[in-house]
Amino acid sequence: MCGIVGYTGTGEAGRVLVEGLKKLEYRGYDSAGVALHENGRLIVTKAAGSVADLEKMLNDQYQAVRVGIGHTRWATHGPPTDLNAHPHSSASGDIVVVHNGIIENHRSLRRKLGEEAGYKFRSETDSEVLAHLIEHCYDGDLLKAVRKAMSQVDGSYALVAACTREPDRLVCARKDSPLIIGLGAGENFVASDVPALLAHTRRACVMDDGEFASLTPGKVEVSGADGKLIKKDILEINWDIEAAEKGGYDHFMLKEIMEQPVAVRETLRQRIDSASGRVDLAEFDLPPEQLRTLEKIYIIACGTAYHAGLIGKMVIEKLAGIPVEVEVASEFRYRGPLFNTNQLAIVISQSGETADTLAGLRLARSKELPVLAITNVVGSSVSREADLVLYTWAGPEIAVASTKAYVTQLVALYLVAVYLGQTRNILDPGLAAGLVKGLLGLPGQLKEVLSDENIAKIRTYCNHLVNWDNAFFIGRSLDYPVAMEGALKLKEISYIHAEACAAGELKHGPLALIEEGAPVVVLATQKAVLEKTLSNVQVVNARGGAVFAITREDFDDVERQVDSIFYLPAVNDILAPVLSVVPTQLIAYYTAVARGCSVDKPRNLAKSVTVE
Ligand code: AGP
Repeated sequence: MCGIVGYTGTGEAGRVLVEGLKKLEYRGYDSAGVALHENGRLIVTKAAGSVADLEKMLNDQYQAVRVGIGHTRWATHGPPTDLNAHPHSSASGDIVVVHNGIIENHRSLRRKLGEEAGYKFRSETDSEVLAHLIEHCYDGDLLKAVRKAMSQVDGSYALVAACTREPDRLVCARKDSPLIIGLGAGENFVASDVPALLAHTRRACVMDDGEFASLTPGKVEVSGADGKLIKKDILEINWDIEAAEKGGYDHFMLKEIMEQPVAVRETLRQRIDSASGRVDLAEFDLPPEQLRTLEKIYIIACGTAYHAGLIGKMVIEKLAGIPVEVEVASEFRYRGPLFNTNQLAIVISQSGETADTLAGLRLARSKELPVLAITNVVGSSVSREADLVLYTWAGPEIAVASTKAYVTQLVALYLVAVYLGQTRNILDPGLAAGLVKGLLGLPGQLKEVLSDENIAKIRTYCNHLVNWDNAFFIGRSLDYPVAMEGALKLKEISYIHAEACAAGELKHGPLALIEEGAPVVVLATQKAVLEKTLSNVQVVNARGGAVFAITREDFDDVERQVDSIFYLPAVNDILAPVLSVVPTQLIAYYTAVARGCSVDKPRNLAKSVTVE
C-alpha cells in the first residue's frame, strides 16, 4: 500500500523522485522519504507527513545527485513515524531499501539477524529486516544479495535496493506488489505505477512475480530466481500526462466525476455491434457451450466494486438467467463456498491490486473455476492472474473515492449480462436491442446529468446536509445498491455517518432515527417499485425527515411528495443506476468540500488496499 520510485541516470535524482512520489501519493500518504547517492554514501531523508513536507526538507540541496530511491507510505507494521518511514538502511548504512508489501516471516528473520548476526533494529516495520538481510547476504554484487535474501522471505514485496559500493545501480524484486520499469535514454526508472513515469518516458515493462531487475543508466536486465535473463515485452504507454493530473479541477474526484461520459464511451467502444444489436465480448473467450451450461456465478469484490457487483447480480440474473452470488472478498474465502463444475467467478477491482479480491480470485482458480476479471489497470495483479480480462477503460483514477471506475464497472457488467443472455438464447431480442441502444446513449445522458444547473441544485442541497452528523440513503430493487454506494461515498469523504437502507426496511428499525430535518436521499428510478418507494417516503415525511429525491423526468408523481428533487433523463430501468449514482457522488463531493475535508485523500484510507 505504498508508492515506490527509483531513478538512475544523469538528471536530478532528488527532483525526479519527489515529482514521482507526488504522483503516487494515492497509494498511501502518511510518510515519505528518499535515499540519494552522494559522495559514496546513501543519504536518507524521511519523515512522517506528505511528499510536500519531504520536498521542503530536501530544499533543493541534492541537485547534483544522479541516483536514488523514494517511497511514500501507508502504515501497516508500526505507526506513521519518522523512524518507520522508508527508506530503511542496513546497520552499516551501505544498503538502503524501499518496500511495498508485507514480510510475513519478519519476526523470525529479525530474531535470526538479531541473535545470530547482532543486527540492531531501529524501526517497528517489517520492511527494515530486508535492509539488514540484504547486507547480510552481500558479497560484492547487489543483485545476487537481493536474490539470496528474497529466497528467505515469505510474503509480498515490491522492493528496490541501492548499495553505496555500486553507486549507479538499483536492484528490484517483485512478488504480489506492482513494479514497473520505465526505460529512458541514458536513464532508467522504476515505480509502483505509471503516473510516476509519464513525465519522463512512455516506454515501460511490467515486472512479474518472482522477477529481479538490475538498473543502471545505460542498461536494464530482468532475470528470474535462477539468474537466467528474461526478455520482457516493452509497452508503449499512450496515457496523456494530463489524464493523470487534475486538469483544472480543484480535486481529482471532481475531474473524475466529470470524465464519466468519456469513461463510459471508452468502455463501450468496440464491444457493441450496433447494426446487429449484439454485444461482442472477444475478451470473454469461453466456449459458447460452457456459457450455455453455466449454473452459477460468484462475483467477488470489495467496497465500491462490491456495490457494482450487487447490481451485476440483479442484471445477470434477469437477462441471462444464471443465479449469481455476490461476495465481499474478505469474507468469501473464509466461509467455505460450495464450488462445483459449471461455475464462473467474476472479480471486480479498479486497481487490480486489492489483496482480498486477489485472494478470492486465487481461491476460485484453485477450485478450477474460470475467472473473469473486470479491472481498470492493465498489467495489474488481478489482470495477470485471471483467465479472462475485461478492462474498464476509465483511465487512471487518482482520488481515493471511486467514481468513474464504478460506472465503468457497471457498464462492463451490463455488457457481460447482455452477452450471456444472447449467447444462451435467453434474452428477448427486443429487450436486447433496447438495452444496446440505451447503453450507447449513456455518455450523452451522463453529460446532461452533469449540467451546471444540476450541479447548482446539488450544492443547494449540500447546504442543508453539511450541518448534519447522520444521513440516510434509501431505495428498492436496483436503487438499493445505488443507495449503498451513495452512503459509502458520503461517509468516505465527508465523514458524515451515512446509512443505506432498503426502503422497505426503514420501518424495521432505522425509522427510529428519523427526526425533524433528518437528511434522507431517496433513489426512485425503478418503475415496478415506484409506488412502494413513495409510500416509504410518506413514512419519512410524517416524521419530519427532509427528503431529497433522485428520480426520472418521466416520473411526474414524485415532486409533490418530497422536499427537493433531482431529475435524471428518462432511461431504461435496468440502466438507471449508471445515471442515478452521479448525483450521489456530487452530494458527497460538495458536502466534503463545504466541510473542508481532504477530498482526494480522506483520512485513514488509501486508494489501493494491498493488505488483508
Ligand atoms: C471506493 O470509493 C473505495 N475507496 C473502496 O471501497 C474501493 O472501491 C475498494 O477498496 C476496492 O478497490 P478496488 O476496486 O481497487 O479493488
